[in-house]
Amino acid sequence: MSDAWRIIEEEISKPSLFKSRESLMPEHLPDKLPHRENELRELVSYFKHLVYDPGSVSQRVLIIGGVGTGKTALSKLFGKIFTRMAREKGYSVSYVHVNCHRNRTLYNIIYDIARQLAIPLPPRGLSAKEMFDALLSYLEELDQYVIVALDEFHYFASVSRSEAVYFLARTYEAYEGTKHVNFMFIATDTSKLAFLDPVTEGYLLRHIIKLEPYSSNQLYDILKYRASLSLYDGVYDEDVLKFIAEYEGVDKGGGGNARHALEILLLSGDLAEKEGAKRILIEHVRKALMSLSREIVSVSEVIRYSSLHELFVLLSIVRLLRRSGRKEVKMGEVEDEYKLICETYGEIPRRHTQLYEYIQNLSKAGVILAQPSGRGHRGRTTLITIHYGPLDALENYIVELIKKRRELGF
Ligand SMILES: Nc1ncnc2c1ncn2[C@@H]1O[C@H](COP(=O)(O)OP(=O)(O)O)[C@@H](O)[C@H]1O
Ligand SMILES: [Mg+2]
Repeated sequence: MSDAWRIIEEEISKPSLFKSRESLMPEHLPDKLPHRENELRELVSYFKHLVYDPGSVSQRVLIIGGVGTGKTALSKLFGKIFTRMAREKGYSVSYVHVNCHRNRTLYNIIYDIARQLAIPLPPRGLSAKEMFDALLSYLEELDQYVIVALDEFHYFASVSRSEAVYFLARTYEAYEGTKHVNFMFIATDTSKLAFLDPVTEGYLLRHIIKLEPYSSNQLYDILKYRASLSLYDGVYDEDVLKFIAEYEGVDKGGGGNARHALEILLLSGDLAEKEGAKRILIEHVRKALMSLSREIVSVSEVIRYSSLHELFVLLSIVRLLRRSGRKEVKMGEVEDEYKLICETYGEIPRRHTQLYEYIQNLSKAGVILAQPSGRGHRGRTTLITIHYGPLDALENYIVELIKKRRELGF
């Protein structure tokens, strides 16, 4: 029998450590969120009117918390169960979750809300405001109520003009009729919203739910629950989970980030499996920690919704920085590398102004640092750098993401 046959056969018949690898992925929405019970109750208290006296108020709640504190999971879980219960009680309440990284303009946000509600709108020709009015009348006509969660709202607030933010925040201002839309604004911190005028700020900051970073004990419970869904019994033991929980727990100097903790567990499992080990060992966790810096985890979240060409630009920067070993690279160099990458992928390169915008966006989102060259350089240019690493891990992640994006065709 050939060597290749044996190798392939061996690999195929290797038992997996995961019974459901998907349920450790960041997209997976679990059925419960240990240590977020009080916050869930708080959310209910704010939206309860929807099952008693719908239309009486248009509620606004701001959910604040660092990366991986469960903001997205909490709001989605609440939305899923709350709307189901409301329907059982005979109220037509829907929940829509809009990611402002993916939808960066008021127009796209409103369009996405309508799309998720399956509200027929003409595809072109309406302004954002007209579209929103159409949406409101439609809801009114059907007597439907909506909770709109605007996730990564700080990003929208930082890239769009303030009128757009006011527009959303002040929906129904001084309006006496039935109110069909309620908002949940989700952001990492309030400081990024502070530039808003006092009235708008008042609308946004009236009801705040703050999610604190998780302690090691809390992370241990979370890991234990998620491990029980995703890994076979006997594949992991308490010590492995404790080790991760202590590394990440805020009380032990970690970030208190559940996403990071879960990704470490996932990668440890992958590494153990690759080695053909029967169990995840502390050593696998140590290896996983080497390649999953906190920064890479939070950046991977930010770029998950970047467009294909924005990813090409980022890939150019990462490759140039790796290859040159310099601390920063110039805009012109990035542009050349970007064109090469487009060629490899058979895509038509975007224009200079568009690239410049991608770079500014990536910089605002904290993925890269772009600044004007200042003196000492011949001609002015933009200098671009990345302060975290390892870059090979980041490069792999971007390449994977590009592959997925192309398979899905957007
Ligand atoms: N209390 C919790 N129990 C179980 N899983 C959690 C909990 N909090 C967060 N997670 C998981 O951690 C990951 C990050 O949570 P997420 O809601 O995306 O954080 P954020 O939106 O604040 O960055 C997700 O996979 C989520 O399911
Ligand atoms: Mg989130």
